[in-house]
Amino acid sequence: MEKFVIMGGRKLAGTIRVSGAKNAALPILAATLLTGTVSVLHEVPLLKDVRCMLELLQYLGAKVTVQGKTVTIDTSTATSQRVSEDLMRKMRASNLVLGPLLSRFHCAKVSYPGGCAIGSRPMDLHLKGFRQMGAEITEKYGYIMARVPGGLRGAEIHLDFPSVGATENIMMAAVLARGRTIIRNPAREPEIVDLQNYLNLAGAKIKGAGTDVIKIDGVEELKPVEHTIIPDRIEAGTHMVAAAVTRGDVTLTNVIPEHLEAVTAKLREAGVTVETGDDWIRVRGGGELRAVDIKTLPYPGFPTDMQAQMMVLAAVARGTSIISESIFENRFKHVDELRRMGADIKIEGRVAVVKGVSHLSGAYLEASDLRAGAALVIAGLAAEDVTVIENIEHIDRGYENLEHKYSALGARIIRVNGGERYFDKR
Ligand code: UD1
Repeated sequence: MEKFVIMGGRKLAGTIRVSGAKNAALPILAATLLTGTVSVLHEVPLLKDVRCMLELLQYLGAKVTVQGKTVTIDTSTATSQRVSEDLMRKMRASNLVLGPLLSRFHCAKVSYPGGCAIGSRPMDLHLKGFRQMGAEITEKYGYIMARVPGGLRGAEIHLDFPSVGATENIMMAAVLARGRTIIRNPAREPEIVDLQNYLNLAGAKIKGAGTDVIKIDGVEELKPVEHTIIPDRIEAGTHMVAAAVTRGDVTLTNVIPEHLEAVTAKLREAGVTVETGDDWIRVRGGGELRAVDIKTLPYPGFPTDMQAQMMVLAAVARGTSIISESIFENRFKHVDELRRMGADIKIEGRVAVVKGVSHLSGAYLEASDLRAGAALVIAGLAAEDVTVIENIEHIDRGYENLEHKYSALGARIIRVNGGERYFDKR
């Protein structure tokens, strides 16, 4: 089992290049199935979840070539419409192949992706949309079987909640459907806009991603496409908080500052200096940090994927912060670990009351999920003494070479395999 060992208390300083967005790459990789031809994708982050999606595409018959950050996928050879349970269970986002398979092959059988550490992750909104487009869906023995003899037809779909995955899955299903599909109350995340851009380059007719209504006019077929994945706003946000809590001075490149407005606003409110340019952000955290209240919301609100990281800042800020999690029911798993470091946090339902303390102390910690794990790394960087984080495979799901990036900024962080000798040395 690999661990991170961090000697905290060093200011991060320097420049860091942000990778391509995991949450844009995953749906676009799933969408390559729709095209039945070649897609060349640049800036693909080669992290665990992405490798898992590439494996899934290969399992379905696609040819995949990886050269640096460029991935070429030929789905003309993909003919399978069934995904095995072990592949589906490896990663929640595997459910995104259902829309493309149904649209292209008119039938699909995938295992239910199952629960997840941060709360139940149902697919009812995805399936409701497919049903409105004419699909017959049966859920049995943990599998979802969907068929639509004659192909999907356009429909007017109102999402009860702006689910990111449901919006993406329905958008993809609609690309090869007959007629027009209208999605009302869709998710407006930048990753949805990136999916639209990729699909339109391939010949799809989609308008409105990023707004309250998405309109898709079905087309007969798609063509080869080359596309560059947008930068990862959550990775960028994580580094911004890391710079702030270590009182550092970090410049991020390959970012779209507009995608980070909610995070930037909260950091400024906390007393952090944030400067932005066209494609860079500089964060300086020298002064005293002040408490901030946060409520997670769908984009453009404050992202749930940044809640855990911001709680680390709140833990060492002056005053009391109220942090409300409104997207996922079980997303406070980092709280017990932060308490081990000396944080003063109380949970009342979906609200965390965080009373700032003067400093955090190194501790032996466990990462429970991706963003909680990232938060613990940030806490370890800011804390006094040594922090050890176990179960870092969760962090590898969403961050490329995190320890190398932070080492380049002056942090002392290493990856070790097994043994507890580093901690025992204290
Ligand atoms: C995506 C992101 C994830 C992020 C989340 C919210 C990817 C690969 N993952 O996940 O990092 O945290 O958006 O910004 O892009 N829901 C239902 N029924 C459904 C679908 C969702 O009730 O059919 C609920 C979920 O239980 C959850 C909420 O809606 O409470 C948000 O889920 P959703 O927006 O779908 O998130 P994901 O697409 O799974």
